Order: sequence, then C-alpha cells, then structure tokens
Amino acid sequence: MTTFAIRPFGARPCTLVVCRGCCCGDARKNPGTDHAGQLARLRDAADASGGRLAVRTSDCLGPCGQANVIVVQPSTEGRRRGARAAWIGWALDDDATDDVIAWAEAGGPGMAEPPTTLTLQMIPPPSDARRRVGR
Ligand code: FES
Repeated sequence: MTTFAIRPFGARPCTLVVCRGCCCGDARKNPGTDHAGQLARLRDAADASGGRLAVRTSDCLGPCGQANVIVVQPSTEGRRRGARAAWIGWALDDDATDDVIAWAEAGGPGMAEPPTTLTLQMIPPPSDARRRVGR
C-alpha cells in the first residue's frame, strides 16, 4: 500500500537534483560506479517516501571534476528555517548514496543534520548555481 504525506499546498519536499551531464553518470569517467543503479536507488527512495522526498535529474551543473554531483535542496520548511542547498561531490559509491538518502529521508537541509561522512563531500556551489538549481 502506498501512503502519501500531507503537505500544505505548494510546499516542496527535500529534492535531490542528480547531475547526469557530460561527466556525472559517465562510466568512462568513473568506471567503478553503477551510475544507473545509483539513480534507481534514489528514485526508489523517493517513491517509497510518500512524497517527503523528490528526485530529478539535471544536465551538467558545473563542477565536473567532482562528479558525480548531487544537490540536496531543502524542503519549503527547511528553506523557511534558513537552509540552503547542499552540493555533494564525488557521490560515487553506495556509502555516499546511503548517506544522501538517509539525510533526505530525515528531512534534508534545515530539518536534520547531515551524516558526518557526507559533510566531507560537500562542495561549494558554482557562482552561477542559483540559475541552474536554485539556492
Ligand atoms: S556533468 Fe555533473 S557537474 Fe558537469
């Protein structure tokens, strides 16, 4: 049975923007990573979240040298609390994917502390990132 979280009209959940541009998700750049499997796991987590978590993909977000890049956008409530999007680089293994999912399931930026190991992978957003994925 699928359950759905009730959110105020227009409220957005924590959203994972998964870069799948020229380098992120490219097996030639990072051959040891199951890129399709990573995206499938993130989408499965969103499907199972009852609307508390969303996933979308993006073209290149900019910091290709830190592929795979995932941006964890705060929910409406997290943003109201002052949180900004967190940029995660080198999300290449199951541990990183686990950490991203765990944080997003807990509410994401502004709602829960990120796993300590994930903080080591946080990268500064490119200067024009707002245009691409929002704050
Ligand atoms: S392809 Fe992901 S940052 Fe460029």
